[in-house]
Amino acid sequence: MSTQIEKVGPQIPSSRVKSGIPGLDALLDGGFPAGKIVLILGEPGTGKTILCSQYLHWGASQGDEKGVYVGLNEPKPRFMAEMSALGMDFANLEKDDRFAYVDATEVRRIPEQAKVGRIPVGGRELGLARRVVVDSISDLVFRFPNIEERRPAVLDIVEVLQSTGTTCLLTSELPSTGVDRILQPEEYLAEGVILLRMLKDGARSLQVLKMRGSKVDSIPRPYVIKDNGLEVYATEEVYGQSAGK
Ligand SMILES: Nc1ncnc2c1ncn2[C@@H]1O[C@H](COP(=O)(O)OP(=O)(O)O)[C@@H](O)[C@H]1O
Ligand SMILES: [Mg+2]
Repeated sequence: MSTQIEKVGPQIPSSRVKSGIPGLDALLDGGFPAGKIVLILGEPGTGKTILCSQYLHWGASQGDEKGVYVGLNEPKPRFMAEMSALGMDFANLEKDDRFAYVDATEVRRIPEQAKVGRIPVGGRELGLARRVVVDSISDLVFRFPNIEERRPAVLDIVEVLQSTGTTCLLTSELPSTGVDRILQPEEYLAEGVILLRMLKDGARSLQVLKMRGSKVDSIPRPYVIKDNGLEVYATEEVYGQSAGK
């Protein structure tokens, strides 16, 4: 089995933030780069929300790092129930002020409030947060169908998040993962990009497309979703159709 290491940019040592997803840190040179924004890209059902929740849950329960989830497509009760079914008890973490859910579904629905830079990120909920998730950016910028308009909207959000100094995961819904897909502005603007894919044979594949300033393993690796969330098989290879980029 070969292990291909891709070097991206100068090797500046940066502190790493543990992902909390079994197997993933091995691909990321130890974890997500601290204080940076990483985009989780994938079609619906690939496990983006679960991955982000594991990231927050691990930080709050194991790492003593407060997490904030900015939810744009599902109301809090549904999120809490879905994650509870996967063994993540956010209600208890919330009581201890180690977790906060920011319901931003209204921001998405009410046009006058849709100014992207005014999402509640940066507000009091962020408090002492160290980990932030915005799920999903597509729900926020769906009003901008063309890329020229979408880019400043995404940049706006990225700048707000960067100013907080927290380590952020942003999710983005991919309409298609074909080879001819159009790169979204958030892929250029985020420091890291992880692509989740469902292959035709039902297998799942996770690939680190970029992680600025980090040595990463960019080979597509298999992952599964089980009763306790995602697990990545960091040393295995993806077999089957369209496993490539
Ligand atoms: N207990 C479980 N066992 C196996 N798969 C599960 C379980 N719970 C959820 N899933 C799978 O997780 C996926 C949904 O994950 P989610 O994070 O909501 O996706 P996304 O946010 O990318 O749309 C679905 O494919 C579903 O089948
Ligand atoms: Mg989701």
